Amino acid sequence: MTPEDKSRIFNLAIEVLKENDRGAYTVPTKGLYPFQWNWDSCFTALGQAHFDEDRAWTEMETLFEHQWPDGMVPHIIFHVHDDGYFPGPDVWGTGRATPTSGITQPPIAGFALRQLFERSADRTAAERRARALLPKIEKWFAWFYANRDPQGQGLVAILHPWEAGRDNSIDWDEAFDRVPTEGIAPYTRRDTQHADPAHRPTKAQYDRYLWLVEHFRGLGWDNARLHDASPFQVVDPGFNAILIRGCQDLAVVAEALGNADTAARNRNRAARGLAALENLWSDRHGQYLCLDRITGTLIDSPSIGGLIPVFAAIPKSRAAAIGQVIQQQATRLKYIIASHDPDDPRFEAKRYWRGPVWLVVNYLIVDGLLAAGETEVAARVLRSSLDLIEQSGFAEYYDPLTGAPCGGGRFTWTAAMVLEFLDIAA
Ligand code: GLC
Repeated sequence: MTPEDKSRIFNLAIEVLKENDRGAYTVPTKGLYPFQWNWDSCFTALGQAHFDEDRAWTEMETLFEHQWPDGMVPHIIFHVHDDGYFPGPDVWGTGRATPTSGITQPPIAGFALRQLFERSADRTAAERRARALLPKIEKWFAWFYANRDPQGQGLVAILHPWEAGRDNSIDWDEAFDRVPTEGIAPYTRRDTQHADPAHRPTKAQYDRYLWLVEHFRGLGWDNARLHDASPFQVVDPGFNAILIRGCQDLAVVAEALGNADTAARNRNRAARGLAALENLWSDRHGQYLCLDRITGTLIDSPSIGGLIPVFAAIPKSRAAAIGQVIQQQATRLKYIIASHDPDDPRFEAKRYWRGPVWLVVNYLIVDGLLAAGETEVAARVLRSSLDLIEQSGFAEYYDPLTGAPCGGGRFTWTAAMVLEFLDIAA
Protein backbone atom coordinates (compact mmCIF):
# COMPACT_ATOMS: atom_id res chain seq x y z
CA MET A 1 0.00 0.00 0.00
CA THR A 2 1.40 3.42 -0.92
CA PRO A 3 1.46 6.20 1.71
CA GLU A 4 -1.32 7.90 -0.31
CA ASP A 5 -3.49 4.76 -0.13
CA LYS A 6 -2.88 4.56 3.59
CA SER A 7 -3.88 8.11 4.23
CA ARG A 8 -6.97 7.75 2.02
CA ILE A 9 -8.11 4.62 3.93
CA PHE A 10 -7.27 6.26 7.26
CA ASN A 11 -9.57 9.17 6.43
CA LEU A 12 -12.34 6.93 5.13
CA ALA A 13 -12.27 4.94 8.38
CA ILE A 14 -12.63 8.12 10.43
CA GLU A 15 -15.55 9.13 8.21
CA VAL A 16 -17.34 5.83 9.00
CA LEU A 17 -16.73 6.23 12.75
CA LYS A 18 -18.06 9.78 12.71
CA GLU A 19 -21.07 8.85 10.63
CA ASN A 20 -22.11 6.21 13.19
CA ASP A 21 -21.36 8.43 16.21
CA ARG A 22 -24.52 9.31 18.16
CA GLY A 23 -22.79 11.75 20.53
CA ALA A 24 -21.86 9.63 23.55
CA TYR A 25 -22.05 6.19 21.95
CA THR A 26 -21.58 4.75 18.46
CA VAL A 27 -23.94 2.41 16.60
CA PRO A 28 -22.34 -0.59 14.83
CA THR A 29 -24.04 0.45 11.60
CA LYS A 30 -27.16 2.28 10.55
CA GLY A 31 -30.34 0.18 10.14
CA LEU A 32 -29.18 -3.30 11.11
CA TYR A 33 -27.84 -2.34 14.58
CA PRO A 34 -29.26 1.01 15.78
CA PHE A 35 -28.14 0.86 19.46
CA GLN A 36 -24.95 0.49 21.52
CA TRP A 37 -23.30 -2.93 21.62
CA ASN A 38 -20.88 -3.85 24.37
CA TRP A 39 -17.77 -5.24 22.70
CA ASP A 40 -18.33 -3.14 19.58
CA SER A 41 -18.02 -0.03 21.76
CA CYS A 42 -14.71 -1.12 23.25
CA PHE A 43 -13.25 -1.78 19.80
CA THR A 44 -14.72 1.53 18.64
CA ALA A 45 -12.95 3.38 21.44
CA LEU A 46 -9.62 1.98 20.22
CA GLY A 47 -10.33 3.46 16.80
CA GLN A 48 -11.53 6.79 18.16
CA ALA A 49 -8.35 7.11 20.21
CA HIS A 50 -6.51 7.76 16.91
CA PHE A 51 -8.29 11.05 16.30
CA ASP A 52 -10.28 12.03 19.41
CA GLU A 53 -9.01 10.78 22.78
CA ASP A 54 -11.76 12.44 24.76
CA ARG A 55 -14.47 10.83 22.61
CA ALA A 56 -12.81 7.41 23.01
CA TRP A 57 -13.07 7.58 26.81
CA THR A 58 -16.69 8.72 26.56
CA GLU A 59 -17.56 5.65 24.47
CA MET A 60 -16.50 3.34 27.29
CA GLU A 61 -17.92 5.54 30.02
CA THR A 62 -21.36 5.49 28.39
CA LEU A 63 -21.26 1.69 28.29
CA PHE A 64 -20.44 1.46 32.00
CA GLU A 65 -23.18 3.92 32.94
CA HIS A 66 -25.54 1.07 32.11
CA GLN A 67 -23.84 -1.57 34.22
CA TRP A 68 -26.33 -3.50 36.34
CA PRO A 69 -26.19 -3.23 40.14
CA ASP A 70 -24.90 -6.83 40.33
CA GLY A 71 -21.95 -5.96 38.04
CA MET A 72 -23.18 -7.35 34.73
CA VAL A 73 -22.58 -5.15 31.69
CA PRO A 74 -25.32 -5.79 29.10
CA HIS A 75 -24.66 -6.64 25.49
CA ILE A 76 -27.09 -4.03 24.09
CA ILE A 77 -28.15 -0.65 25.44
CA PHE A 78 -31.33 0.60 23.82
CA HIS A 79 -30.64 4.34 24.04
CA VAL A 80 -33.41 5.20 21.57
CA HIS A 81 -36.63 3.66 20.34
CA ASP A 82 -36.19 1.86 17.00
CA ASP A 83 -38.52 -0.76 15.56
CA GLY A 84 -35.90 -1.81 13.03
CA TYR A 85 -34.29 -4.29 15.44
CA PHE A 86 -35.66 -7.47 16.96
CA PRO A 87 -35.69 -8.53 19.83
CA GLY A 88 -36.31 -5.11 21.33
CA PRO A 89 -36.69 -3.96 24.96
CA ASP A 90 -40.16 -5.46 25.46
CA VAL A 91 -38.90 -8.95 24.62
CA TRP A 92 -35.95 -8.62 26.98
CA GLY A 93 -38.09 -7.15 29.74
CA THR A 94 -35.14 -6.36 31.98
CA GLY A 95 -36.91 -3.44 33.68
CA ARG A 96 -34.03 -0.97 33.45
CA ALA A 97 -34.68 2.79 33.20
CA THR A 98 -32.79 2.91 29.92
CA PRO A 99 -33.68 -0.51 28.53
CA THR A 100 -30.89 -3.05 28.05
CA SER A 101 -30.62 -6.68 27.05
CA GLY A 102 -30.13 -9.17 29.88
CA ILE A 103 -27.03 -10.99 28.69
CA THR A 104 -23.42 -9.87 28.33
CA GLN A 105 -20.66 -9.97 25.68
CA PRO A 106 -16.88 -10.60 25.48
CA PRO A 107 -15.15 -8.31 28.02
CA ILE A 108 -12.84 -6.35 25.72
CA ALA A 109 -13.12 -3.51 28.26
CA GLY A 110 -10.09 -4.59 30.32
CA PHE A 111 -7.82 -4.58 27.29
CA ALA A 112 -9.35 -1.37 25.92
CA LEU A 113 -8.90 0.42 29.25
CA ARG A 114 -5.18 -0.32 29.30
CA GLN A 115 -4.80 0.77 25.67
CA LEU A 116 -6.57 4.09 26.25
CA PHE A 117 -4.72 4.63 29.49
CA GLU A 118 -1.28 4.03 28.00
CA ARG A 119 -1.86 5.87 24.74
CA SER A 120 -3.57 9.01 26.03
CA ALA A 121 -1.55 12.18 25.58
CA ASP A 122 -3.52 14.02 28.28
CA ARG A 123 -2.14 12.18 31.32
CA THR A 124 -4.25 13.98 33.92
CA ALA A 125 -7.49 13.12 32.15
CA ALA A 126 -6.32 9.55 31.50
CA GLU A 127 -5.59 8.97 35.19
CA ARG A 128 -8.86 10.46 36.30
CA ARG A 129 -10.94 8.55 33.78
CA ALA A 130 -9.09 5.26 34.28
CA ARG A 131 -9.48 5.58 38.04
CA ALA A 132 -13.24 5.93 37.60
CA LEU A 133 -13.57 3.00 35.18
CA LEU A 134 -11.28 0.61 37.05
CA PRO A 135 -13.69 -0.43 39.88
CA LYS A 136 -16.55 -0.81 37.41
CA ILE A 137 -14.59 -3.14 35.17
CA GLU A 138 -13.37 -5.07 38.17
CA LYS A 139 -16.93 -5.42 39.39
CA TRP A 140 -17.89 -6.88 36.01
CA PHE A 141 -15.00 -9.36 36.13
CA ALA A 142 -15.94 -10.39 39.69
CA TRP A 143 -19.52 -10.85 38.47
CA PHE A 144 -18.26 -13.25 35.79
CA TYR A 145 -16.44 -15.50 38.21
CA ALA A 146 -19.23 -15.43 40.81
CA ASN A 147 -22.10 -16.07 38.40
CA ARG A 148 -20.62 -17.90 35.45
CA ASP A 149 -18.15 -20.11 37.29
CA PRO A 150 -20.18 -21.15 40.32
CA GLN A 151 -18.02 -24.25 40.91
CA GLY A 152 -14.81 -22.23 40.84
CA GLN A 153 -13.26 -24.05 37.90
CA GLY A 154 -11.37 -20.98 36.70
CA LEU A 155 -13.33 -20.57 33.43
CA VAL A 156 -16.68 -18.89 32.82
CA ALA A 157 -19.62 -20.15 30.77
CA ILE A 158 -21.79 -18.31 28.30
CA LEU A 159 -25.51 -19.01 28.63
CA HIS A 160 -26.59 -17.68 25.24
CA PRO A 161 -24.72 -17.81 21.89
CA TRP A 162 -25.07 -14.02 21.55
CA GLU A 163 -22.89 -13.63 24.62
CA ALA A 164 -19.92 -15.04 22.71
CA GLY A 165 -20.41 -12.38 20.05
CA ARG A 166 -20.20 -15.24 17.54
CA ASP A 167 -23.95 -15.61 17.23
CA ASN A 168 -24.43 -18.67 15.00
CA SER A 169 -21.05 -20.41 15.27
CA ILE A 170 -20.96 -24.15 14.58
CA ASP A 171 -19.63 -24.40 18.15
CA TRP A 172 -23.16 -24.07 19.53
CA ASP A 173 -25.01 -26.51 17.24
CA GLU A 174 -24.80 -29.60 19.43
CA ALA A 175 -25.52 -27.90 22.75
CA PHE A 176 -28.23 -25.84 21.09
CA ASP A 177 -30.13 -28.99 20.16
CA ARG A 178 -30.91 -29.32 23.84
CA VAL A 179 -32.69 -25.96 23.89
CA PRO A 180 -36.43 -26.39 23.31
CA THR A 181 -38.52 -24.14 21.07
CA GLU A 182 -42.02 -24.88 22.37
CA GLY A 183 -44.11 -22.03 23.68
CA ILE A 184 -42.14 -19.06 22.33
CA ALA A 185 -44.20 -16.01 21.45
CA PRO A 186 -44.78 -15.42 17.71
CA TYR A 187 -42.25 -12.98 16.26
CA THR A 188 -41.04 -11.25 13.11
CA ARG A 189 -37.32 -11.05 12.47
CA ARG A 190 -35.92 -7.71 11.36
CA ASP A 191 -32.31 -8.70 10.60
CA THR A 192 -33.34 -10.50 7.40
CA GLN A 193 -34.89 -7.26 6.12
CA HIS A 194 -31.53 -5.48 6.36
CA ALA A 195 -29.23 -8.29 5.22
CA ASP A 196 -29.35 -11.33 2.92
CA PRO A 197 -31.23 -14.16 4.75
CA ALA A 198 -28.83 -16.70 3.23
CA HIS A 199 -26.01 -15.07 5.24
CA ARG A 200 -27.92 -14.92 8.52
CA PRO A 201 -28.73 -17.44 11.27
CA THR A 202 -31.55 -19.87 10.44
CA LYS A 203 -35.09 -19.86 11.84
CA ALA A 204 -34.39 -22.96 13.96
CA GLN A 205 -31.51 -21.05 15.58
CA TYR A 206 -33.59 -17.91 16.07
CA ASP A 207 -36.34 -19.87 17.81
CA ARG A 208 -33.78 -21.15 20.31
CA TYR A 209 -32.20 -17.72 20.83
CA LEU A 210 -35.66 -16.50 21.81
CA TRP A 211 -36.54 -19.49 23.95
CA LEU A 212 -33.48 -18.76 26.09
CA VAL A 213 -34.35 -15.07 26.37
CA GLU A 214 -37.91 -15.89 27.46
CA HIS A 215 -36.63 -18.52 29.91
CA PHE A 216 -34.22 -16.08 31.56
CA ARG A 217 -36.87 -13.36 31.60
CA GLY A 218 -39.14 -15.83 33.41
CA LEU A 219 -36.44 -16.11 36.07
CA GLY A 220 -36.49 -12.35 36.53
CA TRP A 221 -32.98 -12.00 35.09
CA ASP A 222 -31.67 -13.11 38.47
CA ASN A 223 -28.06 -13.87 37.63
CA ALA A 224 -27.62 -15.99 40.73
CA ARG A 225 -30.12 -18.46 39.19
CA LEU A 226 -29.52 -18.28 35.44
CA HIS A 227 -26.38 -20.41 35.16
CA ASP A 228 -27.76 -23.55 36.77
CA ALA A 229 -31.17 -23.07 35.17
CA SER A 230 -29.81 -22.79 31.64
CA PRO A 231 -29.88 -25.82 29.31
CA PHE A 232 -27.09 -24.05 27.39
CA GLN A 233 -23.78 -23.59 29.28
CA VAL A 234 -20.71 -23.44 27.06
CA VAL A 235 -17.15 -22.61 28.05
CA ASP A 236 -15.77 -20.74 25.03
CA PRO A 237 -11.96 -20.57 24.97
CA GLY A 238 -11.97 -17.30 23.02
CA PHE A 239 -14.32 -15.60 25.43
CA ASN A 240 -12.29 -16.80 28.39
CA ALA A 241 -9.03 -15.68 26.81
CA ILE A 242 -10.47 -12.18 26.37
CA LEU A 243 -11.46 -12.19 30.04
CA ILE A 244 -8.05 -13.50 31.13
CA ARG A 245 -6.25 -10.86 29.07
CA GLY A 246 -8.67 -8.30 30.50
CA CYS A 247 -7.72 -9.31 34.04
CA GLN A 248 -4.02 -9.05 33.19
CA ASP A 249 -4.45 -5.62 31.60
CA LEU A 250 -6.63 -4.41 34.44
CA ALA A 251 -3.91 -5.46 36.86
CA VAL A 252 -1.35 -3.39 34.95
CA VAL A 253 -3.53 -0.28 35.08
CA ALA A 254 -4.39 -0.88 38.75
CA GLU A 255 -0.70 -1.10 39.59
CA ALA A 256 0.07 2.12 37.72
CA LEU A 257 -2.67 3.81 39.73
CA GLY A 258 -1.29 2.47 43.00
CA ASN A 259 -4.11 0.00 43.58
CA ALA A 260 -2.16 -3.10 44.62
CA ASP A 261 -5.20 -5.09 45.83
CA THR A 262 -7.05 -4.87 42.54
CA ALA A 263 -3.84 -5.76 40.73
CA ALA A 264 -3.28 -8.85 42.87
CA ARG A 265 -6.87 -10.08 42.60
CA ASN A 266 -6.84 -9.83 38.84
CA ARG A 267 -3.42 -11.41 38.40
CA ASN A 268 -4.75 -14.31 40.41
CA ARG A 269 -7.88 -14.63 38.25
CA ALA A 270 -5.74 -14.61 35.12
CA ALA A 271 -3.34 -17.24 36.44
CA ARG A 272 -6.17 -19.58 37.40
CA GLY A 273 -7.85 -19.03 34.04
CA LEU A 274 -4.68 -19.75 32.10
CA ALA A 275 -4.15 -23.00 33.99
CA ALA A 276 -7.76 -24.10 33.40
CA LEU A 277 -7.60 -23.18 29.70
CA GLU A 278 -5.18 -26.09 29.23
CA ASN A 279 -8.14 -28.46 29.67
CA LEU A 280 -9.62 -27.13 26.43
CA TRP A 281 -6.57 -27.86 24.25
CA SER A 282 -6.97 -30.36 21.42
CA ASP A 283 -3.79 -31.93 20.05
CA ARG A 284 -5.69 -33.30 17.09
CA HIS A 285 -6.84 -29.86 15.94
CA GLY A 286 -3.79 -27.93 17.16
CA GLN A 287 -6.12 -25.45 18.84
CA TYR A 288 -8.53 -25.01 21.74
CA LEU A 289 -12.13 -26.25 21.67
CA CYS A 290 -15.32 -25.26 23.49
CA LEU A 291 -16.47 -27.30 26.47
CA ASP A 292 -20.11 -28.23 26.90
CA ARG A 293 -20.52 -27.79 30.64
CA ILE A 294 -23.79 -29.73 30.71
CA THR A 295 -22.25 -32.91 29.26
CA GLY A 296 -18.71 -32.21 30.44
CA THR A 297 -17.27 -32.93 26.98
CA LEU A 298 -15.23 -30.94 24.48
CA ILE A 299 -17.19 -29.87 21.39
CA ASP A 300 -15.56 -31.13 18.19
CA SER A 301 -15.78 -27.87 16.28
CA PRO A 302 -12.53 -26.19 15.17
CA SER A 303 -13.62 -22.56 15.03
CA ILE A 304 -11.97 -19.20 15.48
CA GLY A 305 -13.05 -19.37 19.14
CA GLY A 306 -10.20 -21.83 19.63
CA LEU A 307 -7.60 -19.56 17.96
CA ILE A 308 -8.47 -16.36 19.86
CA PRO A 309 -6.72 -17.64 23.03
CA VAL A 310 -3.41 -16.51 21.53
CA PHE A 311 -4.65 -13.10 22.74
CA ALA A 312 -3.91 -14.27 26.31
CA ALA A 313 -0.51 -15.34 27.65
CA ILE A 314 -0.83 -19.00 26.61
CA PRO A 315 2.28 -21.24 26.40
CA LYS A 316 4.61 -20.47 23.45
CA SER A 317 4.11 -23.95 21.97
CA ARG A 318 0.34 -23.40 21.86
CA ALA A 319 0.78 -20.04 20.15
CA ALA A 320 3.07 -21.66 17.57
CA ALA A 321 0.52 -24.41 16.88
CA ILE A 322 -2.20 -21.77 16.39
CA GLY A 323 0.14 -19.96 14.00
CA GLN A 324 0.44 -23.15 11.99
CA VAL A 325 -3.32 -23.64 11.76
CA ILE A 326 -3.55 -20.12 10.33
CA GLN A 327 -0.68 -20.69 7.86
CA GLN A 328 -2.40 -23.87 6.73
CA GLN A 329 -5.67 -21.95 6.19
CA ALA A 330 -3.78 -19.41 4.13
CA THR A 331 -2.85 -22.12 1.61
CA ARG A 332 -6.56 -22.92 1.13
CA LEU A 333 -8.19 -19.49 1.25
CA LYS A 334 -7.73 -16.20 -0.53
CA TYR A 335 -8.30 -14.28 2.73
CA ILE A 336 -7.76 -15.21 6.37
CA ILE A 337 -8.74 -15.87 9.13
CA ALA A 338 -11.90 -17.89 8.48
CA SER A 339 -14.22 -18.09 11.48
CA HIS A 340 -14.42 -21.84 10.97
CA ASP A 341 -12.02 -24.47 9.66
CA PRO A 342 -12.58 -24.54 5.86
CA ASP A 343 -11.86 -28.29 5.77
CA ASP A 344 -14.84 -28.99 8.01
CA PRO A 345 -17.90 -29.94 5.87
CA ARG A 346 -20.02 -27.61 8.04
CA PHE A 347 -18.02 -24.54 6.87
CA GLU A 348 -20.12 -21.90 5.02
CA ALA A 349 -18.17 -19.06 3.41
CA LYS A 350 -20.91 -16.43 3.63
CA ARG A 351 -22.97 -17.35 6.67
CA TYR A 352 -22.04 -14.98 9.45
CA TRP A 353 -19.89 -16.79 12.05
CA ARG A 354 -19.79 -20.16 10.23
CA GLY A 355 -16.88 -19.29 7.93
CA PRO A 356 -16.50 -15.57 7.10
CA VAL A 357 -13.55 -13.36 8.13
CA TRP A 358 -14.17 -10.75 10.86
CA LEU A 359 -11.57 -8.02 11.29
CA VAL A 360 -12.07 -7.65 15.04
CA VAL A 361 -11.07 -11.26 15.50
CA ASN A 362 -8.10 -10.85 13.16
CA TYR A 363 -7.03 -7.95 15.34
CA LEU A 364 -7.09 -9.94 18.59
CA ILE A 365 -5.13 -12.73 16.96
CA VAL A 366 -2.55 -10.40 15.37
CA ASP A 367 -1.96 -8.78 18.75
CA GLY A 368 -1.45 -12.18 20.37
CA LEU A 369 0.76 -13.57 17.62
CA LEU A 370 3.02 -10.51 17.77
CA ALA A 371 3.36 -10.84 21.54
CA ALA A 372 4.23 -14.52 21.11
CA GLY A 373 6.93 -13.71 18.52
CA GLU A 374 4.96 -15.29 15.65
CA THR A 375 5.70 -12.30 13.46
CA GLU A 376 5.53 -13.92 10.03
CA VAL A 377 2.02 -15.26 10.43
CA ALA A 378 0.92 -12.05 12.17
CA ALA A 379 2.12 -10.06 9.13
CA ARG A 380 0.16 -12.37 6.87
CA VAL A 381 -3.09 -11.82 8.78
CA LEU A 382 -2.44 -8.09 8.82
CA ARG A 383 -1.90 -8.00 5.04
CA SER A 384 -5.04 -10.04 4.41
CA SER A 385 -7.07 -7.66 6.61
CA LEU A 386 -5.86 -4.57 4.77
CA ASP A 387 -6.35 -6.25 1.37
CA LEU A 388 -9.99 -6.92 2.31
CA ILE A 389 -10.53 -3.26 3.12
CA GLU A 390 -8.96 -2.13 -0.13
CA GLN A 391 -10.99 -4.59 -2.15
CA SER A 392 -14.33 -4.52 -0.37
CA GLY A 393 -14.58 -1.52 1.95
CA PHE A 394 -15.71 -1.38 5.55
CA ALA A 395 -18.07 -4.37 5.57
CA GLU A 396 -19.42 -6.16 8.63
CA TYR A 397 -17.52 -9.31 7.57
CA TYR A 398 -16.06 -10.93 4.44
CA ASP A 399 -16.22 -14.14 2.41
CA PRO A 400 -12.76 -15.78 2.81
CA LEU A 401 -12.93 -17.43 -0.63
CA THR A 402 -13.65 -14.30 -2.68
CA GLY A 403 -13.23 -11.35 -0.31
CA ALA A 404 -16.81 -10.27 -1.07
CA PRO A 405 -18.27 -7.84 1.50
CA CYS A 406 -21.10 -9.37 3.57
CA GLY A 407 -23.72 -8.20 6.06
CA GLY A 408 -24.03 -4.51 6.90
CA GLY A 409 -21.87 -1.86 5.19
CA ARG A 410 -19.93 1.11 6.59
CA PHE A 411 -19.37 -0.84 9.76
CA THR A 412 -17.98 0.85 12.85
CA TRP A 413 -15.78 -1.87 14.32
CA THR A 414 -14.26 -2.69 10.95
CA ALA A 415 -13.33 0.97 10.52
CA ALA A 416 -11.90 1.09 14.04
CA MET A 417 -9.76 -1.96 13.37
CA VAL A 418 -8.44 -0.48 10.16
CA LEU A 419 -7.07 2.47 12.12
CA GLU A 420 -5.42 -0.01 14.47
CA PHE A 421 -4.04 -2.15 11.62
CA LEU A 422 -2.60 0.85 9.78
CA ASP A 423 -0.84 1.80 12.98
CA ILE A 424 0.60 -1.69 13.52
CA ALA A 425 1.67 -1.86 9.86
CA ALA A 426 3.48 1.51 10.09
C1 GLC B 1 -23.80 -9.32 15.66
C2 GLC B 1 -22.45 -9.94 16.02
C3 GLC B 1 -22.00 -9.43 17.38
C4 GLC B 1 -21.95 -7.90 17.35
C5 GLC B 1 -23.28 -7.31 16.87
C6 GLC B 1 -23.18 -5.82 16.60
O1 GLC B 1 -24.79 -9.72 16.54
O2 GLC B 1 -22.51 -11.33 15.99
O3 GLC B 1 -20.75 -9.95 17.70
O4 GLC B 1 -21.62 -7.41 18.59
O5 GLC B 1 -23.69 -7.92 15.67
O6 GLC B 1 -22.17 -5.54 15.69
